[in-house]
Amino acid sequence: MPDSPVARAPIEVAGLGKSFGEVVALSDVGLLVEPGSLTALLGPNGAGKTTLVRILATLTRPDTGTARVLGFDVTRQQQQVRRNIAVTGQFAGLDEALTGTDNMLLIGRLAGLGHRQARLRAAELVALFGLADAAGRPVRTYSGGMRRRLDVAASMMTRPAVLILDEPTTGLDPASRDLLWAVLGDLRAAGTTMLLTTQYLEEADRFADMVHVLSHGRLIATGTPAQLKSQAGRGFAEITLASADAAAAAAAARLLERQLSLPPAAVRSAEAGRITVTADDGVGTVLAAGAALRAAHIEIADLGIRQPTLDEAFLALTGTREAAR
Ligand SMILES: Nc1ncnc2c1ncn2[C@@H]1O[C@H](COP(=O)(O)OP(=O)(O)O)[C@@H](O)[C@H]1O
Ligand SMILES: [Mg+2]
Repeated sequence: MPDSPVARAPIEVAGLGKSFGEVVALSDVGLLVEPGSLTALLGPNGAGKTTLVRILATLTRPDTGTARVLGFDVTRQQQQVRRNIAVTGQFAGLDEALTGTDNMLLIGRLAGLGHRQARLRAAELVALFGLADAAGRPVRTYSGGMRRRLDVAASMMTRPAVLILDEPTTGLDPASRDLLWAVLGDLRAAGTTMLLTTQYLEEADRFADMVHVLSHGRLIATGTPAQLKSQAGRGFAEITLASADAAAAAAAARLLERQLSLPPAAVRSAEAGRITVTADDGVGTVLAAGAALRAAHIEIADLGIRQPTLDEAFLALTGTREAAR
């Protein structure tokens, strides 16, 4: 592989593979993170997210492939990588006996900040993260949400060009999550490149510029949230029958299955006379469903099409992959 002198993207990953014994944690993963973007690495537990983060953080060596941060190779230029990134997450440690402020000062000093500079930055960050009242207390007295916020705050002591966050919002209460997202939004506005992992699809949907979906160590989809949603499923026809009778809805669902030659899983009847049909050809399915029901003299109260949620897109993507294994 040629040694590229110019970084095309703050994070470049190609052909990355990592196994732990029999377990393939990552297999042939490639991705680019654009400058100043907020990129989400999405995947269920065990998908390989932390392994990728640890490789980028120079904490784990890949078996195959390359990863570069700001052009620096994570295996051959570890020092340069470490100087230019901040990493926070599941594996980060805080000193329980030290106060919040002292933890931040320690990290600032390790990163080469002057004492005065570190104090100013720490004060700024504890205020930003709503920790001003707690900053003078030992970390062992902190709640889970406060620890998480301190962990993220501490990683920002040096205003890194690239910030990598491993499940920053997992286990946070809603107020802390909102606060954290507000801070991440400010950082993005200031031009910080961020790669974060999450299991929360709605977060990726709302905040990420780009999403990479990992499943069983493989990258199964890449795109903007909108692209992923349209890639994963064309949408759903939603039919509300005039009758709210559950048995009538079930009968109508079976009729649609037969008449539209749909696979069984494509039609779901729900309570109160509502039927959802996977509409792979978009409006065509909606029109066909409407026509079939009318021909059978089943009265329709409402008929429409809706786009899949990112949740449904994710299920469709990971489900397809699992079926293919
Ligand atoms: N140090 C390790 N030793 C053995 N197996 C590991 C190790 N780290 C991760 N794994 C395995 O690799 C897979 C991916 O793990 P991980 O990267 O932590 O996933 P995620 O962060 O998406 O939950 C899992 O099956 C996990 O059990
Ligand atoms: Mg993880």
